[in-house]
Amino acid sequence: MSKRILSGIQPTGHLHLGNYIGAVRQWIELQHSYESLFCIVDLHAITVRQKPEELRAAIRRTAAGYLACGVDPEKASIFVQSSVAEHAELAWVLNTFTQMGELERMTQYKDKSKQHAQNINAGLFTYPALMAADVLLYKTELVPVGEDQKQHIELIRNLAQRFNNHYDKPVFTVPEYVPPKQGARIMGLDDPTKKMSKSAESEWNAIALTDTPDVIRKKIKRAVTDSESEVRAGDDKPALTNLLTIYSVVTGKSIADLEKEYVGRGYGDFKTELGEAVVAWITPIQEKMATYMNDAGELDAVLDAGAERARAIATQTLKEVYDVVGLGY
Ligand code: AMP
Ligand code: TRP
Repeated sequence: MSKRILSGIQPTGHLHLGNYIGAVRQWIELQHSYESLFCIVDLHAITVRQKPEELRAAIRRTAAGYLACGVDPEKASIFVQSSVAEHAELAWVLNTFTQMGELERMTQYKDKSKQHAQNINAGLFTYPALMAADVLLYKTELVPVGEDQKQHIELIRNLAQRFNNHYDKPVFTVPEYVPPKQGARIMGLDDPTKKMSKSAESEWNAIALTDTPDVIRKKIKRAVTDSESEVRAGDDKPALTNLLTIYSVVTGKSIADLEKEYVGRGYGDFKTELGEAVVAWITPIQEKMATYMNDAGELDAVLDAGAERARAIATQTLKEVYDVVGLGY
């Protein structure tokens, strides 16, 4: 039997190039070789206040985004986390295996509690236990995510081992982090020292999969560059390294080849052509996304089928967990 992979994205705002390069791009490759589950993690999204209509719209848009980028519903199960109740149920059990100190060390928690200082709720704190439930419920072997999630995966590995050791039964599979081949951390266009993020303050930070061609061109034109005008990647050129990574992903050309193409040419040409390359790459994705957004029945069918397949595995694992823990009667 092939190995199982699972990953998820929070339905907040719009999918952006960082999500694509750090996560979804790996999924569409791995789905051919692994049993794949891709989740829209709406329960995680409510650790930050969301407007109900916007959350519901973002859930559907995120699902349409997965499909438009090339996740194949015949190969992978696409489902919404809250439609498989076992995620919340297992999260509770895992909460009791997670130490406060471990959660206090999570950088995502530290960042988010600064961003949302007026609402540092218990869910935000125990977020990683819910993420552990997502992964462990399916005895997932591999988790393809961006680099910012590596610390969470490490915690999930520890939880799985701790639970198995405590009951002396190999209930959970210890999962592994799968890093992206390229662009594990795509940086903000407005600031190459910070990651591209859905929750960035500046509208110039991220390119959303739903941005219009004109907005994309404008964002790239305004992107921060490095000193001196040479188009090349390197530790001393964080902004250009980031832009070249994006260019490479959307065209399939290597960074070395792109550097050669721009020898003796300045940032102006480079940015104009990068803008056109991103637009050319994104246009068919946007067309496909619109098709799914306009066909509610089709999207529902994909999510229903995905949830059904996920549930079949989830109920079994949860039963095993309840058995070893001694829950029920
Ligand atoms: P999020 O938008 O926080 O739900 O992230 C969803 C997925 O996208 C996770 O696998 C992240 O690691 C990945 N991701 C988010 N932002 C970036 C980024 N700037 N660069 C690379 N991967 C990212
Ligand atoms: N925490 C992840 C993020 O912020 C999202 C996520 C939730 C996830 N559950 C998951 C990713 C399970 C991979 C597997 O990006």
